[in-house]
Amino acid sequence: MHPHNADIEYMSDIILGIESSCDDTSAAVIRDGYLLSNVLASQDVHKAYGGVVPVLAFRAHQLNIVPVVSQAVERAGIRAEDITAIAFTRGPGLLGSLLVGTSFAKGMAIALDKPLVEVNHLQGHILANFIKQYDHENACPEFPYLCLLVSGGNSQIVKVTSPLEFEILGQTIDDAVGEAFDKCSKMMGLGYPGGPVVDRLAKEGDPDRFRFAKPHVPGYDYSFSGIKTSLLYFVRDRMALDPEFMEKNKADICAGFQKALIEILMDKLIKAARDTGIREITIGGGVSANSGLRAAVTEEGRKRGWKTYLPEFKFTTDNAAMIAIAGYFHYLNGERTPLDVAPVSRIAGFHNAG
Ligand code: KG4
Repeated sequence: MHPHNADIEYMSDIILGIESSCDDTSAAVIRDGYLLSNVLASQDVHKAYGGVVPVLAFRAHQLNIVPVVSQAVERAGIRAEDITAIAFTRGPGLLGSLLVGTSFAKGMAIALDKPLVEVNHLQGHILANFIKQYDHENACPEFPYLCLLVSGGNSQIVKVTSPLEFEILGQTIDDAVGEAFDKCSKMMGLGYPGGPVVDRLAKEGDPDRFRFAKPHVPGYDYSFSGIKTSLLYFVRDRMALDPEFMEKNKADICAGFQKALIEILMDKLIKAARDTGIREITIGGGVSANSGLRAAVTEEGRKRGWKTYLPEFKFTTDNAAMIAIAGYFHYLNGERTPLDVAPVSRIAGFHNAG
């Protein structure tokens, strides 16, 4: 069932979420935790550069923010005045990109005389499984749960004890796993972002033909810079013998490299689940779209008696629906953000999202 406009008068909390932390401009509307709209404008301009160019991202957000927010409100079937609170990503992310969403959210809050609620982008990814949709099963994890948060900027295992309480059990000591996917793709001339391309090619390849050594890192922490370098040397050495090597073997290289990355991620997740006794397991962030990782989490879950929750693809990469749902929890907790708030490119820890 989708709500009718007539229902709106009886609605309780309608949250507009605004996300602009990196290269996606997104706005979403949720009503009492149920998604009414989720609009996203991606920026193709970065493809030619093999990575996000901050100044171009900033400019594209400026172009996109008004139509994206307008569409989100329109598709939700509400009027701007119906909005209860405006949630926005305060950080972490690219400062110029964050400024666009933050400034826009402030302007709207003043114009509509509605409260502002800041959200930590990572917290959005972690709570993505709580976005409820009409006509969906909407299985939400029970607390406490573990979230494997894997994106272009982060690789963490987070223990989530309530919507607003988090503890980072482990994180990368150097590169994020998404960077490893992206670098692999770049090295092989496969384009940006690399994750989806490597994922697709890996499906056609033999994962056991080429093996890449896994790092030894204590505790629940991760490291991905060594394996990235070993891929570089491996390709360089083989190409010296056969210049066609990479072209002829790209599916097998991607399959082997992806397999190693997934094993690294899973080893620590299994350890954390075993040590904490937590069996509610979620994944989040752009890399959680990876088909191999999704299969591995499901398979390990089946073997180990975990209850696993995989976010829908549209909620894995950056989106405002996750910002709206996280903002909703903060709003219910009575949190309001003053209008002199400034975005922050880095946020240490989670706590109450900065
Ligand atoms: O969460 P996200 O959209 O942006 C932030 O980093 O905040 O994550 C982007 C990352 C990129 O590194 C991209 O290559 C990776 O997610 N990614 C994937 C897949 N889809 C996106 N990595 C592996 N497999 C995928 N299917």
